[in-house]
Amino acid sequence: MDFSDKVVYQIYPKSFSDSNGDGLGDIRGIINHLDYLKTLGVDYIWSTPFFVSPMNDNGYDIADYRAIDPRFGTMADVEELIAEADKRGIGLMFDMVFNHTSTEHEWFQRALKGEQKYIDYYIFKDGTPDKPPTNWESKFGGNAWEYVPHLGKWYLHLYDVTQADLNWENPEVRAELKDILRFWKSKGLKGFRFDVINVISKPAEFVDDDQGDGRRFYTDGRHVHEFLKELVADSGIDGMITVGEMSSTSLDNCIRYTNPNEHELSMAFSFHHLKVDYKDGQKWELMPPDIAALKKLFATWQEGMAAAGGWNAVFWCNHDQPRAVSRFGDGQSTAAKMLATAIHFMRGTPYIYQGEELGMTNAGYTSIEQYRDVESLNYYNIMLKNGKTVEQALETLAARSRDNSRTPMQWSADKYAGFSTVEPWIIPPDNYTSINAQNEVDAPDSVFNYYRQLIKLRKALKIIADGDIKFIEPNNNDVLAYERTLGDEKLIVLCNFREHNVKVDAYDGFEKLLGNYDGLERELRPFEAVVLKK
Ligand code: NOJ
Repeated sequence: MDFSDKVVYQIYPKSFSDSNGDGLGDIRGIINHLDYLKTLGVDYIWSTPFFVSPMNDNGYDIADYRAIDPRFGTMADVEELIAEADKRGIGLMFDMVFNHTSTEHEWFQRALKGEQKYIDYYIFKDGTPDKPPTNWESKFGGNAWEYVPHLGKWYLHLYDVTQADLNWENPEVRAELKDILRFWKSKGLKGFRFDVINVISKPAEFVDDDQGDGRRFYTDGRHVHEFLKELVADSGIDGMITVGEMSSTSLDNCIRYTNPNEHELSMAFSFHHLKVDYKDGQKWELMPPDIAALKKLFATWQEGMAAAGGWNAVFWCNHDQPRAVSRFGDGQSTAAKMLATAIHFMRGTPYIYQGEELGMTNAGYTSIEQYRDVESLNYYNIMLKNGKTVEQALETLAARSRDNSRTPMQWSADKYAGFSTVEPWIIPPDNYTSINAQNEVDAPDSVFNYYRQLIKLRKALKIIADGDIKFIEPNNNDVLAYERTLGDEKLIVLCNFREHNVKVDAYDGFEKLLGNYDGLERELRPFEAVVLKK
């Protein structure tokens, strides 16, 4: 199945809509807004997890893969969500967190009781409390191993200490995970998103990494392709829409993950383009985005995937990323439209993260009390320990925290942004009074209606879904520029990433499809996008 003309909308339920006045978003809140998504025109909803969880990582720490956390609703609500979305021609994709479980999962609890069967579900190593098995670092800070004194063993957690890595080498673990997929498929799901799926295969030997944090030993690991093929075939999900979240991956691996002949996944998220503002590659060190590097990365990935039959998931925003309009733009609607254009004309399936279609911005928090995210709170302390001042640490969080994308969806100018009737678990930015769905849905020039138009165009013009892609204007470090070709047809996409006017090449014989090209002498205004058509 081909997903080239489809568009996916990502929902972070905790921040989408609170239907029962407890300050937390819930499943019924999603059901209540399905017509909004139908108006936008998306084909699928990917919802991040709402399964039973202690919520140390907002649901990415799952304690029961088959039960709904009561804070989000009930299984009946989920079934209604699937059915109501289906009525509107929208398919549901759920988030499968299969690299790790919560330490509250029954499997881990039984491992803690010393049951060997369940010890073998995880990556436990014998040892003494003074020395972790390796020097690998957790992605959320600190060493990646935790000691369990009464077992005399360490367990691996690449993420939070309450997220224990599963042992995929164990066929019983793989069988359990296939069963979970079958369970959800039988509920009428149309697809799945697989959390950090390229780190599931760990090395045969666990040794110190003298060059880094250990990731080179398990990223795109030795059995990952074989495990994925087996998971997909045995659970009967081949042909459904599946997207893998790939951490620090390579182009070659992503081609293998997504080329249909491999029968692994239908598409992959890679994150290299979202590291162009990491100073020395460090997430917690700020620098302005390097647009030349961004262009090169897109060219490499877009052309490279096309040449070898791979397929991209294209995106700027998700629940782990700061808002693109604040990060690459000036927080205003022109930049929001430019960024949308850059992605939606590319070769791949576009993902829209809730609120992106309104031009929602970063949170603008100024005190540590406003933050909720485990990674942000951990790194705040690490930054202070490493000598940053409180001001510097807060400035870094304001740019990088995952909470920037987790603020409540801005439905209206009402108190709490129309998200809830009570104070939400995390507060909205002040700009909800102007940036909100109520203002935008019926305003023809709104960011919302621009996204609607982009989705319609993808379905109307085969060249957007299926054309070849080539990056152009390689020496212009201000403008992301590419052409799409299908037979005799051609599209030119030009996106100005600068706050000032910039020059572009002449494109004679083209007419304007989108943007403000007319009247300008080969010049794009600040943060403006133009699409030309032949
Ligand atoms: C990636 C998810 O997107 C993120 O939110 C989560 O913290 C980690 N995986 C760990 O599950």
